Amino acid sequence: MRGSCIILIGTMGAGKSSVGWYLARSLGLGFIDLDTNIEQREKKTIAALFEEKGEAHFRALEAAEVVRLKNLRNHVIAVGGGAAVDDANWDILEALGVTVWLNPPANEIARRLLADELELRKRPLLADVLDQRTAPERHKLLTERVTALIGNRLGAYKRARAVISDSFSTPESTARLIRDVLRKDGLLAAEESRKSFDRWQIM
Ligand code: S3P
Repeated sequence: MRGSCIILIGTMGAGKSSVGWYLARSLGLGFIDLDTNIEQREKKTIAALFEEKGEAHFRALEAAEVVRLKNLRNHVIAVGGGAAVDDANWDILEALGVTVWLNPPANEIARRLLADELELRKRPLLADVLDQRTAPERHKLLTERVTALIGNRLGAYKRARAVISDSFSTPESTARLIRDVLRKDGLLAAEESRKSFDRWQIM
């Protein structure tokens, strides 16, 4: 039987964490951000983990963190853009509940990531775009890089049960949209069985 969680997947900058938080709040569910859990457990930022030990090491930590989610109920879970690509991770995530692919247009993702340089610096796979000198150059390159990334991961992302492709104005509005889509399609687990959580949780 499918679990009672909602799992948000999609590329970096798609809004999984901010949308997920609102979605959890509006449904009275707990919220987990997988990357935050990794950072708290390792006491290092994602950028530092990539820099010090490389991507393969990060992927191993990410997979171990996904395993820790097994048996979790009644949570919205935002996972890093690469987490759903691995088949073993996917099997666990899918068993946890309804998977939702947040897929705003690549140029919109680029715009949002460039609006906050700190946010972009947190993403080691994209941060080098800041080496470009002008804002239009950065936006163009970042849009290309995000498009390529989505293209490479399309097979994995397409496995999600629902896709939300709006170029959202606010995380609240996207959270509302997801809730409405899942309700309409009968994909929300019985809401009365849910407990309320009011803080992020590290397991
Ligand atoms: C990654 C996405 C990041 C983070 C890491 C790698 C990826 O998470 O896990 O930088 O491979 O797409 P967000 O999608 O939350 O930015």
